Amino acid sequence: MSTPESKERDPSTLRSARWWAPDDQRSFGHRSRLKQMGFNSEDFKAKPTIAILNTWSDMNNCHTHFRDRAEEVKRGVWQAGGFPVEIPVMSLSESFMKPTSMYYRNLLALEVEETLRCYPVDGAVLMGGCDKTVPALIMGATSANIPSIFLPAGPMLKGCWRGETLGSGTDMWKYWAEKQAGNLCDDSWAELEDGIARSPGHCMTMGTASTMTAIAEVLGLCLPGSTSIPAVHSTHARMASSCGRQIVELAWENITPRDLLTGNAFHNAIVTDMALGGSTNAIIHLIAMAGRAGIKLTLEKFDEISQQVKVIANIRPCGEYVMEDFYDAGGILALLSQIKEHLHLDCSTVSGKTLGENLEGAEVFNDDVIRPLDRSVSKAGGTFVLRGNLAPDGAVMKPTAAEPHLLKHKGPAVVFSDYADLKARINDESLALTPDHIIVLQNAGPIGAPGIPEWGMLPIPNYLLKQGVRDMLRISDARMSGTSYGACVLHVSPESAIGGPLALVQTGDFIEVDVDERKLHLDVTDEELETRRAAWAPRPDRHRRGYGKLYAEEITQAPEGCDFRFLHAGPDSPEPDIF
Ligand code: FES
Repeated sequence: MSTPESKERDPSTLRSARWWAPDDQRSFGHRSRLKQMGFNSEDFKAKPTIAILNTWSDMNNCHTHFRDRAEEVKRGVWQAGGFPVEIPVMSLSESFMKPTSMYYRNLLALEVEETLRCYPVDGAVLMGGCDKTVPALIMGATSANIPSIFLPAGPMLKGCWRGETLGSGTDMWKYWAEKQAGNLCDDSWAELEDGIARSPGHCMTMGTASTMTAIAEVLGLCLPGSTSIPAVHSTHARMASSCGRQIVELAWENITPRDLLTGNAFHNAIVTDMALGGSTNAIIHLIAMAGRAGIKLTLEKFDEISQQVKVIANIRPCGEYVMEDFYDAGGILALLSQIKEHLHLDCSTVSGKTLGENLEGAEVFNDDVIRPLDRSVSKAGGTFVLRGNLAPDGAVMKPTAAEPHLLKHKGPAVVFSDYADLKARINDESLALTPDHIIVLQNAGPIGAPGIPEWGMLPIPNYLLKQGVRDMLRISDARMSGTSYGACVLHVSPESAIGGPLALVQTGDFIEVDVDERKLHLDVTDEELETRRAAWAPRPDRHRRGYGKLYAEEITQAPEGCDFRFLHAGPDSPEPDIF
């Protein structure tokens, strides 16, 4: 990338010049309204206008520091000769949105795309971190294809309970099981609630947020090393102002997301996901993000790479540590330096350097946290793809997060028709579940739930928890939180709500899972399945208006990324007329 001194800047080439520069009545209106806000001509004239898309809100626990960070970005933009404007966009909070933030990922993506298109924007800083904000911001910016840099929220500090490190989500599930088993008193449970989330920032296990921000970085959209910095470190504030300076350069050079998001960049992203032992959600998001760039990713591509790249990040839920330890051990750059042989190092990044150049000097400072390949956390990558007559279009599983004896298992199914049914009956002792049973949940997919919520770590009955059972084979068309664990087969496709084979499973059917063989088989004859299919009928559609109607009509299945059909890559939308 050129330096400011090395190239003549021509302000008439800026997109925002169409709004600010003409000597006409409409531009008079634009300029006079900037002056209404207290800006002088010198503030905006002949400068790139930089949108800071801020997903802060009082409802987003992971982004509470974003008001400060936006000011730090502005400082960087001013320093580099740009004109910063902060624009709030929908704040997807993983903790509070129902039925699931995933239901709204595409809505934020659409808002981002149209916000960038309708305003005089030459470059954008995308402020996100909490799970779905990451793919949503990137999907929208990719479709708008305006120069963008992603500013990651950074992980929160580690949690603590009585001297023991707590990891987001992961330790909540663990201790909830202990509580249900009668091993944890109410006072201890209350102490855990006080200690598990102790600072701004996203979940600090290798959940979806840590996975997707790392992926954003390896795709080339973040400053080098930025995604590992804990949210409250002063380094994080300095990184924010650096983002502000760098986006001005990207705007002048017109380096857009689609310049960076190549097939090789997505290959790198999948390699990184596997080495991290990343969230299973990354598969859906990566397919959707690639789709916006006109690149088709298949489930087979993920499975192929999972057989080549082992998990080397020893981070919960697959490992022992949390993101603060990962940062101190060298962070994402150190991890990437260990898997260089699998990466396309010539991919461009927003730093103006290649990925390989960004990795120069990267070192591992604690090789128990970031393992060498010959001492990996697992023998294979983080996410496997299963297929069979129960999932003709595929299903995914994270074997590193499961008890090994369940990776090859055949057992009788106990079927719950939806989550309400599961909640009502799972602890009913008359079901007489054993550890060999396979718990099956229907109607939890993109259409069925709706929104393919993170219900996939289905609860184990209390009476089995009391017997010491901590893992069982569980199958659904739902997703699972990246912080979750267990032998959970997820994203079964096609989903049950549209008549996928999962809808036809009945209690007592035998199901066979063989992870090494990538097999997911329902042991019922084809003839019997046809008889059941003839008797099956979809549930009535509850969403007849508004966003729910749009969602139901346009959502795709998990192997297609759960994007809206009309938002897939296609001919670019026209620039707005300015009359
Ligand atoms: Fe925001 Fe986990 S709740 S990343």
